[in-house]
Amino acid sequence: MNQSSGPGARRCLNPRVITLDRLTKVFPAPGGGDPVVALDGIDLHLEPGRVHGIVGRSGAGKSTLIRCLTGLEKPTTGRVEVDGTDIAALDGAALRAARRNIGMVFQHANLLDSRTAAQNIAHPLEIAGVPRAQRQQRVAELVELVGLTGREHNHPAQLSGGQIQRVGIARGLAAEPKVLLCDEPTSALDGSTTRQILRLIADLRERLGITVVIITHEMGVVREVCDTVTLLQDGRITQSGDLLDVAADPHGPLSAELIPLPPAPTGIDALVVNCDYGNSARFRTNDDLIRLAETYQAEATLVAGTIETIGGRQVGRVQLALRNRSGRPISREGLTAFLTELEAAGVVATEVTA
Ligand SMILES: Nc1ncnc2c1ncn2[C@@H]1O[C@H](COP(=O)(O)OP(=O)(O)OP(=O)(O)O)[C@@H](O)[C@H]1O
Ligand SMILES: [Mg+2]
Repeated sequence: MNQSSGPGARRCLNPRVITLDRLTKVFPAPGGGDPVVALDGIDLHLEPGRVHGIVGRSGAGKSTLIRCLTGLEKPTTGRVEVDGTDIAALDGAALRAARRNIGMVFQHANLLDSRTAAQNIAHPLEIAGVPRAQRQQRVAELVELVGLTGREHNHPAQLSGGQIQRVGIARGLAAEPKVLLCDEPTSALDGSTTRQILRLIADLRERLGITVVIITHEMGVVREVCDTVTLLQDGRITQSGDLLDVAADPHGPLSAELIPLPPAPTGIDALVVNCDYGNSARFRTNDDLIRLAETYQAEATLVAGTIETIGGRQVGRVQLALRNRSGRPISREGLTAFLTELEAAGVVATEVTA
């Protein structure tokens, strides 16, 4: 991203828009018994102008984290800073003012049925006491921004699921927040509508320089739109980083979920090896692997795999079937030498045993 203009410039001025510092949230057990540690010492620093994904299984603490970010939940200990404001220290009017800096998008937009799309978008501005003329102008801008032109006078019953979510996003952006928090924004949408909404989110990040945090259980969402990803497990961060680094680290917990390997084929008369070449400087495509195999007099065929292009670079987990020139499985010696060379080059390679 360009460092002298656009979102990149903002990033230089303020390297962190969200800072969580040793954040802990402990809930008393509702029926007595042991308290529930929902968040257990979270340290997280998110850069502005990027799309951050937070993933984790049910009960990992994702919603609790987002509720702490919006001030709906007070941390038990630790600090929650959004755009320089310590959210956890605020109450009442000061908290409401700080919240205007934080837009929220939910799985279901929960629009008011009696109001049109435009009137739903205007709702938070009315509550904030924005004068009518200013409100109308802002709503017109938002309708255009989220691609709802021509549908602004429709009521929710006259909108598709994707259009309803566009209204939800416009409403979240109404007060020009610095941060947009999205809790499972596409979980209720079909595949092609999900892609449209994700494209909209990426476009908003480019046009507005806004910071987006997306909570999701869908790895496709992370692959498609996130710049960084953080994995929560039992209230702790177990992996966090730029998407490419996380996806390309075959030893990390998220790599196999982001770049899943299909089941190994059976009944192949060849030696089959798994190769994860994501973080190898030398191997950037499957062709590189196939060419190396040739130097060991082996013919390599790709029999299964998942290849993603992230940040212009291929990250792959693939299975190669290795045969010699007469179509028989390559020799054990040949295989050992090939695997040794792959490993020296940073490719995680293992033989698939039948
Ligand atoms: N108000 C509460 N009182 C007691 N326990 C709570 C409360 N809110 C959440 N918890 C517990 O904290 C843990 C984390 O819950 P949280 O809702 O943050 O998970 P999550 O990652 O959002 O899960 P999901 O993907 O199912 O939405 C869970 O064990 C949950 O039961
Ligand atoms: Mg949740």
